[in-house]
Amino acid sequence: MGIADRRLQYETAGLDIDDLDPNPVTQLNLWYHQAEEAGAAEPNAMVVSTIGENGFPDARVVLARDISENGITFFTNRESAKGAQIAANPKASATFAWLQLHRSVRVRGSISLATDAVSDAYFASRPRASQIGAWASPQSEAIGNREQLNDLVEEYSEKFDGIDVPRPPHWGGYVLSIDSIEFWQGRPSRLHDRFLYTRHNNVWRAVRLAP
Ligand SMILES: Cc1cc2nc3c(=O)[nH]c(=O)nc-3n(C[C@H](O)[C@H](O)[C@H](O)COP(=O)(O)O)c2cc1C
Repeated sequence: MGIADRRLQYETAGLDIDDLDPNPVTQLNLWYHQAEEAGAAEPNAMVVSTIGENGFPDARVVLARDISENGITFFTNRESAKGAQIAANPKASATFAWLQLHRSVRVRGSISLATDAVSDAYFASRPRASQIGAWASPQSEAIGNREQLNDLVEEYSEKFDGIDVPRPPHWGGYVLSIDSIEFWQGRPSRLHDRFLYTRHNNVWRAVRLAP
């Protein structure tokens, strides 16, 4: 089938404002768990979009590790391309796409650093090979070949042989605040349901958006 001819009808029950929790953070956690139950591959995967130094948007997939009133936490190399972009402009968005459920969620907010305690605790919970990888990979930098990366992995494996791998100073968490959040539910004939929540003096207000 040609790509232009692919057309899926979104036969879902639909969404009304009364179906959504007044607190969108609770609702986001509910949709995440429903995606997990539906067997979504990596239901915590989200596309985080940042603004590059040249003003162009940039976006990549990362894994959400916590969703709470504080925001959405993810972990990465703070010296990566995204790390530099966040340092220069902390405004960002995150997009979840749970395609089996014909659902998507968009969050906009500001990014701040997770605390050292949060970053340490999460780093300590990672498999040892991933911990070594965090030291070995100069994320987003050009490298000559795979061999170079393997050598760095070997170097750090030897360096930390027999001891716990400490968290690299350049690696840690970011928290995207939930300043606005949209819930999208696919419906037949492209007449989808969309609800956008924004916060006013700490009270959430939702409006329906045209599809
Ligand atoms: C499913 C999936 C999950 C990912 N999770 C993370 C993650 O949690 N943290 C991370 O730094 N990169 C993750 N990546 C890799 C990023 O998409 C990206 O390649 C990397 O962070 C470098 O991005 P940057 O050059 O924009 O900084 C993931 C990629 C995929 C496809």
